[in-house]
Amino acid sequence: MNKYDKVIDLALRKGFFLPAGEIYNGPAGFFDYGPYGSVLKRKFIELWRKMIVVEDEMVELDGSQILPEAVYRSSGHLENFVDPLVHCTKCKAEHRADKLISEKIGKEIPENLSSKEFDNFIKENKIVCPKCKGALGEVYKFNMMFRFEVGSKGGDNVGLRPETCQNIFVDFPRIYKTNRLKLPVGVAQVGKSFRNEISPRQSLLRQREFTQAEAEIFVNPNAKFEKFKRVKSHKLRLLPNGKKEQILISANQAVQKKIISNEFTAYYLVLLQKFFEELGIKKFRFRQLNDKERAFYARESWDFEVETDVGWLELAACNYRGDHDLKSHGEGSKTDMSVLDRTEKVLPHVFELSLGVDRSLYVLLEQAYAEDKIENETRAVLKLKPRLAPVFAAVFPLVNKDKLPKVAETVHEMLKQYGSVYDDAGSIGKRYRRMDEIGCPVCITIDFDSLKKKDVTVRDRDSMKQKRIKIAKLLDYLFSVYSS
Ligand code: GLY
Repeated sequence: MNKYDKVIDLALRKGFFLPAGEIYNGPAGFFDYGPYGSVLKRKFIELWRKMIVVEDEMVELDGSQILPEAVYRSSGHLENFVDPLVHCTKCKAEHRADKLISEKIGKEIPENLSSKEFDNFIKENKIVCPKCKGALGEVYKFNMMFRFEVGSKGGDNVGLRPETCQNIFVDFPRIYKTNRLKLPVGVAQVGKSFRNEISPRQSLLRQREFTQAEAEIFVNPNAKFEKFKRVKSHKLRLLPNGKKEQILISANQAVQKKIISNEFTAYYLVLLQKFFEELGIKKFRFRQLNDKERAFYARESWDFEVETDVGWLELAACNYRGDHDLKSHGEGSKTDMSVLDRTEKVLPHVFELSLGVDRSLYVLLEQAYAEDKIENETRAVLKLKPRLAPVFAAVFPLVNKDKLPKVAETVHEMLKQYGSVYDDAGSIGKRYRRMDEIGCPVCITIDFDSLKKKDVTVRDRDSMKQKRIKIAKLLDYLFSVYSS
């Protein structure tokens, strides 16, 4: 098994996540997070809030997932949020034209070429249906939004949001006024987005319903971005457009050398990189997208990518969206979307940090997954940062007799608010293995000595070393593990 398969196997076996509607064989691309997965996800989002939202003094929004179709007409999604599809004229199988071509020519091609350009590629490279070798028809564009009508009589056309940020743009002028905000300011939101992907695959990596953590930062493009000073010497790992090798360069130099076009873009790339550094993510880079790769709303884009078992994976899109959003919603709704920046009336520009939560969780699991050889066996262990572990501590009575369960229950009662579980089933070795597999950083055993000495054994997940600690000192010890 490769590492991806091992991680998915573990995640399904332990119920981190599971296919939605599994017993009815529901459609692909939808997942439920099980008990451990939900906690991991919540802790990940808490850290994102702390390091992005709180750090940058952003405000938050909890928007509706369904918005009127008019929003998506203005945003450009009705016209541009499309996948190129092609059908086989013989067996009628449906294919993504860009994927077929990429596979045939051995390199990625952009998904936003015109239908004609795709047709030409197919002709020039003599591409046929991979299933039956039949001739392919003409390429056409399929809109990936889920759209429907509301009410018993219909008539109100709506869509499930394909990105969380549209609520933020539409609500911005009111939020700005009612909260007496000042530019530059970020508005952040964590929530579900929906895309009718043609080929959802690789579990959490390409879903039809997924969670985004997005921050949209509104700036006055004419004003100086004072906060840049705070981060200017932080080194960014960049792969600029057209370059083969990534570079490590200070935020300041990247702006001076015009690798990054402005200070606020560089500032927010640093903020995001620091978040991933805190998570302990290894082998990452910001890859600049070229004209063909960029989303239709973006002027400059840097994808935060991580090298994984399945190749480089985009976890976050960092887009300078200019005035595209406020301008088009202003025109579409005939609303003045400009705001007052001190005495100047401006239509703010937007910089966006758009993070895919589910993919990030996969990457956390993959990077944490290890197989350690111990004596005659191999243990699977998730070396997650303690602050992300779905179970923070496990409490075991060595045996189920005498007063050991009673003391163990008291210890668990003291710790359950911090995320402890109680486990008295099977040998201690088996209980350790179960906890290793879900990344529990500390196992606490109550043995016969504990009764006399009022202490416990704590066993560290990664080193597997054990030591005795007084029960009265246990919380201090756990807090030190939490912060490590
Ligand atoms: N809001 C940007 C994206 O969803 O990719």
